Amino acid sequence: MVLTLTVNGDHRASVADPVTPLVDVLREEFHLTGAKPVCREGFCGACMVLVNDKPTPSCLMPVALAQGSDIRTVEGLGSGGTLTAIQAALEACDAVQCGMCFPGMVVTLTHLLATSPEATRDEIRAALSGNICRCTGYERIVDATLSALAVK
Ligand code: FES
Ligand code: FES
Repeated sequence: MVLTLTVNGDHRASVADPVTPLVDVLREEFHLTGAKPVCREGFCGACMVLVNDKPTPSCLMPVALAQGSDIRTVEGLGSGGTLTAIQAALEACDAVQCGMCFPGMVVTLTHLLATSPEATRDEIRAALSGNICRCTGYERIVDATLSALAVK
């Protein structure tokens, strides 16, 4: 059985078992390794992708359920090697440490910038409740998000 997916605007075919987690298909078949399978239980956010513009843990989604949806991974957020506003702000604020959590953070914060242009510090922290970072105190991430919102 061949599954058809739309990933970063491209139509892709997968021969994976339909119950395979989407994150594994993205990484192993399509070589999109930004999303990270860390907890595989839906609580760390390292595997976050946008499914129909909504941040979604790709470790919990069987690939068959992703058919017919618009899937966007961190690789598909910028264009032509240009950083997005949130990527540039995270870099400028020196927010990234080991980097394991950041593809998921960027996906969640991209959604926040698009949907909550007036977000407060507390609202940013709430939006990140599903993204766990073991390295930072989150303050630089929140600062970077506020600065990205300020220049929108
Ligand atoms: S690996 Fe998916 S939420 Fe942690
Ligand atoms: S920067 Fe290391 S887990 Fe977030």
